[in-house]
Parts: sequence; C-alpha cells; structure tokens
Amino acid sequence: MRSVSVYTSREYTVYIGGGLLSEAGGRIMAVCGGETAALITDDIVNKLYGDAAERSLRAAGYAVARFVFPHGERSKTMETYTAILRALAQAKLTRQDVLVALGGGVVGDMAGFAAASYLRGIGFAQLPTTLLSMVDSSVGGKTAVDLPEGKNLAGAFYQPHIVLCDYETLDTLPAEIFNDGCAEMIKHGVILSAELFAILKEPMQSNMEDIITRNITIKRDVVTADEHETGIRKLLNFGHTLGHGIEKHSDYSVPHGSAVAIGMVLASRGAARAGFCDQECHLEITEAVRRYHLPTATDITPDQLIDAAFFDKKRSGKRITLILPERIGKCAAKDFSLDEFADFVRLAV
Ligand SMILES: NC(=O)c1ccc[n+]([C@@H]2O[C@H](COP(=O)([O-])OP(=O)(O)OC[C@H]3O[C@@H](n4cnc5c(N)ncnc54)[C@H](O)[C@@H]3O)[C@@H](O)[C@H]2O)c1
Repeated sequence: MRSVSVYTSREYTVYIGGGLLSEAGGRIMAVCGGETAALITDDIVNKLYGDAAERSLRAAGYAVARFVFPHGERSKTMETYTAILRALAQAKLTRQDVLVALGGGVVGDMAGFAAASYLRGIGFAQLPTTLLSMVDSSVGGKTAVDLPEGKNLAGAFYQPHIVLCDYETLDTLPAEIFNDGCAEMIKHGVILSAELFAILKEPMQSNMEDIITRNITIKRDVVTADEHETGIRKLLNFGHTLGHGIEKHSDYSVPHGSAVAIGMVLASRGAARAGFCDQECHLEITEAVRRYHLPTATDITPDQLIDAAFFDKKRSGKRITLILPERIGKCAAKDFSLDEFADFVRLAV
C-alpha cells in the first residue's frame, strides 16, 4: 500500500492499495468517527461493491444508510443532489456523521457537494472506483453538479477527510471507461511531467499502484500550492474548456475523459497553428490519446464549442483563459478576448 498526504485547508491522506475496500470502515472510523455512515453510490457500482462497502462500515461500528442513483453524467443534476440531501436528513445524519462516496467522479463530485452543504459540512470519505476518480477527481476538493446551462456550474470546494483507492475495483471497469482515466493522466503528463508522459507509453497494468500514486502526487502538489484555483491549479483545466463544450452539446453521450482527450488534441492543434508550441508537441499528444483508443475529433461545431465556453467557469468577464502546451511537461494559461477565443477555436477544429 502507498499513501500520499494532501496539505490543503484540511490535511488528509490518500491511500492506494489492493483490497482497501474491505478495510474502508475501520480507516474511515479512525479518521472521521461518528455513528452513521451514508453510503452514496450509483446502481452499477452498488451491484458490484455496495455490499462489501456496507459490510466493512458495519464491522467498524457504523449504522449504514445507503442511497443509490442511476449511473452516468445525466444523473449529475440538482434533482439527484436534492434527493441525496433528503436521504441524509431522513437518515438523521448529524455533523458528527460521515458521507461515504463509492464510485466514479459523478458519485464523488455530487456526493461531495452534498457532504459540503448538508448541515454546512459533514465528514466525507471518498472510495473512488474508476481510474479517473482515483487519479484526479477524488483528490483536491472540487465538488459539483451540472446545470442545464453547463458542466459543474454549482458546487463547492470541500476537501475529503480520507480517500481510499482500491485499485482491485478497476478489474471490473470496462476498457473504454478505464481509458477515460488515461486521458486525465496524459493531461498530468502534458502540463507538468514529461517523465510521466514517457511512462504512459509503456504498458501499465502490472504497475497500477505506482502509476496511480504518481498521478495523485502531481495533483496533490498542484492543489496544495493553489487550493482555490487562482493560479497554477488552472493548468489542470488543459483540454477542459473545449471538452466541457463537447460533453454539453453531445448531451453527455461523450464521457468526460473522452471529451477531455478531444479537447487536448484540439487545444494543442490550435496552439501549434498559433505558434505557441511546435507541431511535434501536438502530434505527440494526439498519438498518446490514440494509444488509449480515445477519440481525437468531434462533430460538435466550432460555434457550439464557442457558445459552451461562454458559459464555462473559465470565463471571467469578457475574457476566457485557455491552458495551452508550450512543450510536453509545460503548459501556460493564455488569456483571450471573446473574439480572439472564437478565432482560436476555428483555427483548432
Ligand atoms: N472533482 C474533480 O476535480 C474532477 C476532475 C475530473 C473529473 N471530474 C468529474 O468526474 C466525472 C467523470 O468521472 P468518471 O469517469 O469516473 O465517470 P462515472 O462516475 O460516470 O463512472 C463511469 C461509469 O463507470 C461505472 N463504474 C464506476 N466504477 C466501476 C467499476 N469499478 N467497475 C465497473 N463499472 C464502474 C459507473 O457506474 C459509470 O457508469 C465527470 O462528471 C467530471 O466532471 C471531476
């Protein structure tokens, strides 16, 4: 087992190991205490791991209230969020109790927002079960739901008290969902680590503990330096402004990781054409995306991407910040007027 300590407004530990799910109850009790655990998960993860998680929580002394919602991004709504809050109230959770998010990024983001807001904040444990949620979304405290107007538009910064990444749960993950997580790892490589980018060219299956730990360490370093995204944390948005537009305009039929993959290919193509990086950098990113069978193009139109970006969180007043590569391992934030941004998108697509 490995661990990574995160030093944000709340200090907490991320554990990475095989079989951690069966130890989850004891580890959560040691950090959070409390009497009742609300186990929040989606229907697919519930069938696979709900009983094991509940057994572990009960063995540690928790009374468990389970809430299950239909899987997928289309559930990441105010309606599901409200239903979770009501389930917490009906289970009579107090501020001393704990919410346990078991699942991918959709579960973690939405349950995290419920943990942040129910009674103005209760104990929060993340048990991520997708590669994406292990290497990215479960660490750093961004919680959110989507609004009809766009992705993740309502939420809060709320750090978990503990994160337990049991990589054995990845055994049941369909290949395309595993690959969505690879998109966020490619992103980490492009923005901050040429070394990680090179490692991702090798087969990783026998080395999951190491690769997950490397990615969490990169994310930890970024969020420790800039918890509330006023500076370096913006780099983690590489591929996301265009990616969010693809998710929204595909009605969320394109998964988040795949949309980010396309977003990285488009952003790097635009960057190469605009002279921010050389063509080789764009080709390397495209090749990395292809290696994990992720998509490189979209039929969402430039106008739709531009329209979506005007609703994105990365807009400030009449300007939009895009993260663009300078070379593998180094990205920078570039500030565009709305007209310049529209020109850039037309150049990139
Ligand atoms: N908070 C952050 O910092 C952050 C960062 C990146 C992404 N995100 C968010 O994360 C979400 C995407 O997360 P995701 O890709 O994990 O999607 P997801 O949570 O929808 O999971 C993908 C699918 O995999 C299934 N699944 C989960 N674990 C499984 C397992 N072990 N075996 C079999 N099936 C399993 C789920 O039921 C779901 O159908 C998006 O909403 C995105 O906005 C948040």
